[in-house]
Parts: sequence; C-alpha cells; structure tokens
Amino acid sequence: MGKTSVTLGLASAALAAGIPTLVVDLDPHADASTGLGVRPEGRTDIGHLLKNARRGDIEADAAPSSWLSRAAGDASLTRPPVLDVAFGAAFTGIYDRPDLRARDLRRLSALLSRTSIYSLVLIDCPPSLNGLTRMAWTASNRVLLVAEPSLFSVAGTERTMRALDLFRTEFAPELATAGVVANRYRPASAEHRYRLDEMRSMFGTSLLSPVIAEQANWQQIQGAAYAVHHWPGEAARTAASHFDDLLRNVTDSGKLRSRASH
Ligand SMILES: Nc1ncnc2c1ncn2[C@@H]1O[C@H](COP(=O)(O)OP(=O)(O)OP(=O)(O)O)[C@@H](O)[C@H]1O
Ligand SMILES: [Mg+2]
Repeated sequence: MGKTSVTLGLASAALAAGIPTLVVDLDPHADASTGLGVRPEGRTDIGHLLKNARRGDIEADAAPSSWLSRAAGDASLTRPPVLDVAFGAAFTGIYDRPDLRARDLRRLSALLSRTSIYSLVLIDCPPSLNGLTRMAWTASNRVLLVAEPSLFSVAGTERTMRALDLFRTEFAPELATAGVVANRYRPASAEHRYRLDEMRSMFGTSLLSPVIAEQANWQQIQGAAYAVHHWPGEAARTAASHFDDLLRNVTDSGKLRSRASH
C-alpha cells in the first residue's frame, strides 16, 4: 500500500524541481487523477487511449494537473512547469486480465514512444499483478516498489519482486528495479521498527532512502488535491523534502520512466 501516495509525492517533487512530467494513471479507480486535480474536459482517458494505441495521442489527451495553478508563482522555476496526467477511468479495467497477450502488453509503450516533451513518466498501477501492471513494466525503465512496514505488505513486496524477476527474464531483460520505498513508517511503533529492520535485511541496498513516515494530515492533503510541496506547515515541508531526496535517488538523469507497485 502507498503506491498512489508515493507517485503523488514524486510528482510533487518533480514539479518543484521543474522536471517536465507525465503521470499515467493505470488504476481503474483513478485515485492519482483525483489527487492531481484533473478535469478531463472532453479529453480521452488512458483506457480508451490504450485501446487505440496505434494512433492515440497521449500528449494531446493528457490533462494538466490543477497543481500547476499554485506552481505559477514559484520564482525558482525558469520555464513554465509541465505536469500532465493521462487520467484513469474504469474502462482501463478491460486490460487487467491475468492472460494479457504480448501484443497488448506493448500498448502503453506504443503510446509513450510518440511523446517527446516529458523528461519523467510516472506510472501508477492497480494493486493486482495482472495485465495493467505488466503493461506498465513493459513500458518502464525502472520499477519502484512501495511497502508499509507490516507483515503482509513486506511479504507482498517479496512476491512482487519474484514476479518481476520472472517477467524480466521472459519479456524485459533491460528492466531495472529502482528499489523498495518503505512508506507510512511510525518510528514510535515497536512493530514498525522490527519490520523496517526486517526490510533492511531482506532488501539490502534495494531499500531506498529516505523512509517515508506516516503523515497525520496526508488524507487532508490528498483530499484537497494539493501537492505536498504546496501544503503549509512544518510537517508537510519535511515530507516534501523527503520526496525531493527520493526523486533524486531513483532518477540519475531525470530521463527515466518509473512505476510504483505495492
Ligand atoms: N505516508 C503516509 N502517511 C499517512 N497516510 C498515508 C501515507 N501513505 C499512504 N497513506 C494513506 O493510506 C491509504 C492507501 O494509500 P495509497 O492510496 O497511496 O495506496 P495504494 O497502494 O495506491 O492503494 P491501492 O492499491 O488501493 O491503489 C490512503 O488513504 C493514503 O492516504
Ligand atoms: Mg493506488
């Protein structure tokens, strides 16, 4: 758990750093699109774009995030910022089958191969490891996994790692694992400290720094469709700086496509 939250945190950091970014919301529930304050206004959702992968124009149909209105006054940005969203819809669910054919797995790569304006593409995935997540892996340079320091989440991340290894061998030898993000960490909890130690020994250097702590006002920030970098107060400022560090640690050149998993 925490895929969408980490995607949004990284998108917020990319916006603050002036990195032209596209968020692809592959989850039929479209939580990332909601958090990014997207208004479709006649544009085509990602599900229908995937259906028309040979001709679909993801740049034309991606909607600007409402976060941009608050970034306009950011004097540190030398160029007008770009944060677009290939927004999610229930229709995307037609591709979330366990038996998706290789031809279908390449639909997102085909759409992205015709974009040139983004330096970073973040793909938010549904919780299943079916067609949509595999389509994201096929289109990505790197995969970022997100886990809470809890028993089931750590076990789930190990399963995802194994599925990813199999997928890499069969379909995508170049695909790298960017690492595992520990999210929603509560340092005061003995259980969380124990699970974080377990993650350190299990994932070694793949466990990314920094660890993202549990944030008291996180739902409020997401519910208001705010970038964490634009939310007032010390707690949000600390969280924002952690996402700045995480973004730096998962991208070396900024020219990467990443995807979040559970
Ligand atoms: N660091 C955090 N601090 C506080 N709450 C968090 C944090 N990260 C995630 N949450 C909350 O936990 C819930 C699940 O997080 P999120 O939606 O990011 O997970 P997900 O992996 O995308 O879930 P799904 O698989 O359902 O799409 C949300 O309500 C979110 O606000
Ligand atoms: Mg999600």
